[in-house]
Amino acid sequence: MRMYDLILKKRNGEALSKAEIQYFIDGYTDGTIPDYQASALLMAIYFQKMNEAETAFLTEAMMHSGDVIDLSAIDGIKVDKHSTGGVGDKTTIALAPIVAACGVPVAKMSGRGLGHTGGTLDKLESIPGFDVHMSIDQFINNVNRLKIAVAGQTADLAPADKKIYALRDVTATVDNISLIASSVMSKKLASGADAIVLDVKTGNGAFMKNTEDAFKLASEMVTIGSNMGRNTIALVTNMDEPLGNAVGNSLEVKEAIDTLKGEGPEDFRELCITLASYMLLLAGNIDSIEAGREKVENVISTGKALEVFKTFVAAQGGDIKYVEDTNLLNSSKKIYPLQSDKSGYINRIYAEEVGLSALLLGAGRETKDSIIDLSVGIVLNKKVGDYVEKGEPLAFIHYNDEDKKDNAVEKLKTAYLINEDNPAKSPLIFGTVT
Ligand code: URA
Repeated sequence: MRMYDLILKKRNGEALSKAEIQYFIDGYTDGTIPDYQASALLMAIYFQKMNEAETAFLTEAMMHSGDVIDLSAIDGIKVDKHSTGGVGDKTTIALAPIVAACGVPVAKMSGRGLGHTGGTLDKLESIPGFDVHMSIDQFINNVNRLKIAVAGQTADLAPADKKIYALRDVTATVDNISLIASSVMSKKLASGADAIVLDVKTGNGAFMKNTEDAFKLASEMVTIGSNMGRNTIALVTNMDEPLGNAVGNSLEVKEAIDTLKGEGPEDFRELCITLASYMLLLAGNIDSIEAGREKVENVISTGKALEVFKTFVAAQGGDIKYVEDTNLLNSSKKIYPLQSDKSGYINRIYAEEVGLSALLLGAGRETKDSIIDLSVGIVLNKKVGDYVEKGEPLAFIHYNDEDKKDNAVEKLKTAYLINEDNPAKSPLIFGTVT
């Protein structure tokens, strides 16, 4: 087989066979296929697309390119949740203890990644002492004892995807639905979950800017999961404005803890309750979404979810006094209120601009070696549909460096669309795909 022939075939719009896709994945992973040929194939895929069978072959080949974790030593049905990512998405931090408190094991391997803020692991490290490093045996043991563990990837999961994703990032080939679906699902399948709940984001702050594409991505991922024997469901959810109010690492941890305490912003709380209900449903823990909702609301209101969170934090070395009093968490030196220059209804808050503003403050990584400032970020004071008076704060900027703050303010100003009409609020959840 020759890589040249694969590129030509795809360029001409033909479908690749299972053997050809396996050849590409093996050769690119072991370095015998060079970046320039892999890039050419990815660009051909970008324009010519892949059919369902090719997407499935690619997913399986990437899944088996490294370790495939066996979680069978954990009792019960393991349900994983994956979000395609967005601004202010701290869902795992609240969701995992909620689901565990309902009796369903949560064995979560999370990432750091490039982004407007850090990933779940960086956020959790805002709690002093919290350690995400553990062996697979410790990980399994913690889930069996406490029903919850969140760890960095101990195993070498889907290395082919890691290499291809990095190449896509620099060759303008990320936003192809089949490539995204196979990338996400190869990692989920390799990490050993029995069932998967996908949170596919749509809107200004998401990969999928329009809802139609988000539904297509959701359905490709559900098809892959189901064909691989995993009960999979996707929710298409709103990422036009940031989720919740906080964007920034320790600020998001605080908001997630507030939510476990029964407080927290309404949209974030609602998303956590809904996702948790679906996770319980796939785990066979309840028999309807309504029953799930009741159970989830109960573990929040009784404080059980918060207790599970504290036990989990302590088991991974974190100091729970920061959970009990979140004001102790790493905070920035200064806070700047961004005031509105007019009165009116907030029609849009462009999530991507808010995210970029947080990045300018130092909340995220621009390159994989960037050091994150866990204390900085943005807390929205108004959300879409709220009325703001001229001079009232739209948001509070938590910062340590004046120059960074000035840049972040300029960026954040561009995130708002304010006018006299009260906008029709778009839904938090657009629908589910099963
Ligand atoms: N997240 C992934 O893991 N892969 C993609 O291709 C896009 C988002």
